[in-house]
Amino acid sequence: MKYVVTGAAGFIGSQLAEKLIADGHEVVSVDCFTDYYDQALKEENAARLDVARVDLAEENLDLAGVDGVFHLAGQPGVRSFGDIFDDYVRRNLLASRRVFEAAAAAGTRVVFASSSSIYGDAERYPTPEETEPRPISPYGITKLGCEQLAHAYAQGFGLDAVVLRYFTFYGPRQRPDMALARVVDALARGSSFELYGDGLQSRSFTYVADGIEATTAAMERAPSGGVYNVGGGQEATMRETIGTLERLSGRTLDLVERPAAAGDVRRTAADARRIERELGWRATTSLQDGLRAQWEWASARVAAP
Ligand code: UGA
Repeated sequence: MKYVVTGAAGFIGSQLAEKLIADGHEVVSVDCFTDYYDQALKEENAARLDVARVDLAEENLDLAGVDGVFHLAGQPGVRSFGDIFDDYVRRNLLASRRVFEAAAAAGTRVVFASSSSIYGDAERYPTPEETEPRPISPYGITKLGCEQLAHAYAQGFGLDAVVLRYFTFYGPRQRPDMALARVVDALARGSSFELYGDGLQSRSFTYVADGIEATTAAMERAPSGGVYNVGGGQEATMRETIGTLERLSGRTLDLVERPAAAGDVRRTAADARRIERELGWRATTSLQDGLRAQWEWASARVAAP
């Protein structure tokens, strides 16, 4: 098959593109290398790929002969208030509009990477897909907007789209603004980690390789219009997760307590029964094993000359 991966220099996109190539597919990798975090990290992620620089907010994808688009490009991060909102509108809504329109015109399937943040502080836990979305971050609002845009293009122009709601992916290459990337980096360097709030907020942490399996399963066998939670199965608080990483690393974290951050939800817990029932996917990596892999990756990088 021939696939396009957008956001191919990112944490998840780069590992998805590598997996697709390893599985024998032809992959067109695109990314616009924004400066949201150190571009050297994106270059490192993309080192085994040939990533074209494409700004999807301004350029259309060429989908001739393409069987599917994994649309992972976007402006991430839930702590998204202030002037940076322009970036969220541009890199999520405007970019996705072009992707959806091109895909609808070409008759190409899109798997869209949405987010658990569309639920906000959800009315039910574990949270099934039919729960009313009520995002509390500008980021979550743009992701929900993208989902609805995909739906509108499906209704109006026959777009074949599948929506995946990713729940806090972690593992090697995790974005450096995310909590666990900062924790392992602080443990490896002996620097401090700023904990927002009381640390009792919890997440359905999802190991990146598991999430990538869900993503390819969605491309291969999800019904058109399908919406799925992609959640790790094991919920943990920040304090529990930090404790596990301290044990795995044999070190003590220098933890600095900070006020809770606007846009952060208190809890995420994926009800992942739909994806298991319909696509046969469930997370298989325990939090302990996944955290060990992330620690080993991060500590080796810090130790490298
Ligand atoms: C993550 C991603 O950043 C989003 O892009 C993604 O869409 C989202 O998951 C999702 O699941 O929908 P989040 O769950 O907030 O968002 O992940 P982290 O940034 O790793 O934060 C986890 C927790 O750690 C939050 O409660 C946050 O307040 C806390 N945190 C984060 C800190 O205490 N200190 C930090 O330096 C960073």
